[in-house]
Amino acid sequence: MPVITCIEDLRQLARRRVPRMFYDYADSGSWTESTYRANESDFSRIQLRQRVAVNMENRSTASTMIGQPVAMPVAIAPTGLTGMQHADGEILAARAAKRFGIPFTLSTMSICSIEDVAQGTGGHPFWFQLYVMKDRGFIERLIDRAKAAHCSALVITLDLQILGQRHKDLKNGLSAPPKLTLPNLINIASKPRWALGMLGTPRRQFGNIVGHVTGVDNMGSLSEWTAKQFDPALNWGDVEWIKKRWGGKIILKGIQDVEDARLAVASGADALIVSNHGGRQLDGAQSSIGALPAIVDAVGSQIEVHMDGGIRSGQDVLKARALGARGTYIGRAFLYGLGALGEAGVTRALEIIHRELDLTMAFCGHTQIDRVDAGILLPAAGLPDRR
Ligand code: GLV
Repeated sequence: MPVITCIEDLRQLARRRVPRMFYDYADSGSWTESTYRANESDFSRIQLRQRVAVNMENRSTASTMIGQPVAMPVAIAPTGLTGMQHADGEILAARAAKRFGIPFTLSTMSICSIEDVAQGTGGHPFWFQLYVMKDRGFIERLIDRAKAAHCSALVITLDLQILGQRHKDLKNGLSAPPKLTLPNLINIASKPRWALGMLGTPRRQFGNIVGHVTGVDNMGSLSEWTAKQFDPALNWGDVEWIKKRWGGKIILKGIQDVEDARLAVASGADALIVSNHGGRQLDGAQSSIGALPAIVDAVGSQIEVHMDGGIRSGQDVLKARALGARGTYIGRAFLYGLGALGEAGVTRALEIIHRELDLTMAFCGHTQIDRVDAGILLPAAGLPDRR
């Protein structure tokens, strides 16, 4: 087994161990993937100010997100088909997050259901991400199920009324469970750990959906199903009724524009996530870290601003925090860990990011994450000067 020292090591191991269809699903963006790439590359353009001979003892990365204590300002992002990267993937990732002391967000499009995750984590609260579909009766029941499972925040995704085209998913015929075509069978045969895990679990379909929507027992391909079921007419009025029915903390995911950020504040949400869906929706959109400063300037005093997209290291988390994100989310970074090594791999991904965050904060002359601000940044070419 290779020595794992960074998220890239986990990515390479996951690529070897996860069937191609599911690895590609995680590791792709829409169309030319330019936004997917910009999410990462814009982070690397931001430079940090090194400070020396500052007392670096007694450091803490502990903070809060929507008032909830977190061991570091990082949550696990909602990602679809997580239970296809590794058998029972959502339960394993939720357990790793619980042990680490950070929030886990379960996707509507998960393999393990809300009830599976609640049971698998001993009732520990997690966050639930909601996609709004045309069948409002189903959405109401989904909200009620999340309440019954004591989810402590509802994350409403606003940027996927329609699906951005991901070439690889179409070419691979992405579906869950995978169709047993000859190329898929040959590929799965070369991933024995994955296959054994899958044979050992009953959870191989969309657990929140199959059996809960009348007439849905087989969803066909993900792109067809999304096109049929997701509501292209979703609007701010829907956020209002969802908020009322839910009655708890609301986080709005998918904000890239200052005007939309203002509407998010007006909706009464507790937080918004600056996000371009990991470069999987509007190809050509600005990177999330590039969009963050203007949104923080416009609404940061009225609502908690979070961000996701491109975070592959603790350095990235620190930069997002310095630019005003109270919290960040990792999607691919934890999926690589899961695909590589299951629950231990998610824990490893969190440890790697935590250690990088802790040491980088110290190199910048800080010992408390809650004291970090734009003063740790040098002016960056192409990004607004935040100092
Ligand atoms: C959402 O579920 C996605 O595939 O990006």
